[in-house]
Amino acid sequence: LNRKVITVDGPSGSGKGTICRLLAQELGWHLLDSGALYRLTAMAARHHGVALDDVESLQVLAAHLDVQFRTDGQDDLKVILEGEEVTRSMRTEEVGADASLVAALGPVRQALLQRQRDFAQAPGLIADGRDMGTVVFPEACLKIYLDASAEERAQRRYNQLISKGLSASLDDILSDIQARDDRDMNRPVSPLKPAPEAVILDTTQLTIEEVLEVVLDQAKHKG
Ligand code: C5P
Repeated sequence: LNRKVITVDGPSGSGKGTICRLLAQELGWHLLDSGALYRLTAMAARHHGVALDDVESLQVLAAHLDVQFRTDGQDDLKVILEGEEVTRSMRTEEVGADASLVAALGPVRQALLQRQRDFAQAPGLIADGRDMGTVVFPEACLKIYLDASAEERAQRRYNQLISKGLSASLDDILSDIQARDDRDMNRPVSPLKPAPEAVILDTTQLTIEEVLEVVLDQAKHKG
C-alpha cells in the first residue's frame, strides 16, 4: 500500500474540491486536482483549433500540455496554461462540459496518467478526481468517495453563482449536472465509480466541517 496517497473521488459538486484543499492544508500534503488537467486539455484544444473528437491531436496536446501550478503564499493555486493565467477562466461550466468530452477518450487519459502519478511526492498527496482510487492510484492507503444528490449539488452550485453576483437558473444547472454525471459514470474508460474498498460518504446532509472530520478520522486510522 502507498501510505502517502489519499484519493477522493466523486461527481461534480460533491464538495471534493473544498475537502481536498482543506485536507492538504491540514496534513501539509500536496494536492492533485486531476479535473484541472482535463479542463486544461480542453482549453488548449479550443485555443489551437483542435476539434474535441480529434483523438490523435488531443492525445498529443494532453501529452505536451504546457502548464504550471503556482502557489503564491497562502493564496489559492494559480494555474498558467501556455504562459497565460487561466485560474478563473478554466472553472466555467462550458470548460467543464468540454473537459468531460475529452475525458471520455482513452488515449487522452493515458497521456495524462504519468503526469498525475508524478504528483505523489513526499510527504504525501491528496488526489481529487473521478478515477483516482480505481485507476491512477490503486495502491492508495485511503480511498474516499464523496456523493450527494444531484438536487443538492445543483443547489450548491446555484448558491455559489448567486453569491458571486452572477445570474443562474437552478433547472439549467441541474440538467447540466445530470448530463455530466451520466457521461462520467457511463463511459467505457475509467468511469466514475467508487473503488470496492472506498469509504463512501453521502454529503447531502453534511457540512464541510463534518465531512472533513470524518475523513481526517479515517486518515488517522489508516496512517
Ligand atoms: O472535477 P472537474 O469538474 O474539474 O472535472 C471536469 C471533468 O473532467 C469531469 O466532468 C470529468 O469528465 C473529467 N475528469 C475525469 N477524471 C478525473 C477528473 C476529471 O474524467 N480524474
